[in-house]
Amino acid sequence: MKSLKAGVIGHPISHSKSPIIHQYWLQQHELEGSYKTIDIAPENLESGIQNLVSEGYDGFNITIPHKENILTLCDELSPAAKIIGAVNTVKIKNKKLIGHNTDYFGFIENIKMSIANYNFKDKNIFILGAGGATRAIIYGLLQEKFSKIYISNRTQGRAENLKEMAPEKIEVIEWSGKENNLSNINLLINTTSLGMVNHPELEINISNLPDNATVTDIVYTPLLTDLLKQAKINNNQIVTGIGMLLHQARPAFELWTRIMPDASPELEKLVLGEISV
Ligand code: ATR
Repeated sequence: MKSLKAGVIGHPISHSKSPIIHQYWLQQHELEGSYKTIDIAPENLESGIQNLVSEGYDGFNITIPHKENILTLCDELSPAAKIIGAVNTVKIKNKKLIGHNTDYFGFIENIKMSIANYNFKDKNIFILGAGGATRAIIYGLLQEKFSKIYISNRTQGRAENLKEMAPEKIEVIEWSGKENNLSNINLLINTTSLGMVNHPELEINISNLPDNATVTDIVYTPLLTDLLKQAKINNNQIVTGIGMLLHQARPAFELWTRIMPDASPELEKLVLGEISV
């Protein structure tokens, strides 16, 4: 393969962990190439992307705030990107932009790799939040054979909007009633920004959750959110959010290089070393 030219676009972008991940894999697989952070302000998105095409980029990742706005700038979309309505990875082929979404894979793979033999079959799932990440997670869950998804969000209309993804399998629960609807839940997922550094705490009492339920948080700064600490105390199995970041990057790297890399413990440590926990 010729030298890879890739990066991640966003605004702001300097704190992105993606260069650590992709540079690690380039080195591990003895590939030539570069992966840079590229700051593009929202008003410059179209011209910023055209510059990357002119400069011969093979592709790039997309983060806040461009994941949705880039959809209409792509020449083609993968089925996942179309249904999720967001693009986190672009492959540039013959100067055409092909938009993909690997966030759903990152979420599902994180659970499967963190808990041996995890099976979504017959699971009742409770999702807190209905923001951008939630649609990707629901898309991922729909590839599995779960039983039911309950969604609770401060702004209930956003949760109602997600129901169309699987009307017969999704039920909306009032934000104020979330704690009273945990007794039959097998998997609890926080997709809100609550609990993240510089954000308010997620205030929830999960004592109604069965002991054998799993709790996961997509927040990874801090790695052990208050929700996960509470789950540990209650003897619930926990899955931290860092794996979603690592696993969503794997198919992106594969799209550009045809090599599907591993999310090794060493890589996780490297990325976490950069994070103030
Ligand atoms: P993203 O698209 O990156 O996921 P987002 O769309 O702003 O970001 O979603 C953030 C999630 O955190 C939403 O579910 C949001 O709830 P609202 O839809 O009601 O905004 C949730 N969230 C953020 N701050 C919150 C707060 N103080 N209390 C409850 N939920 C909150």
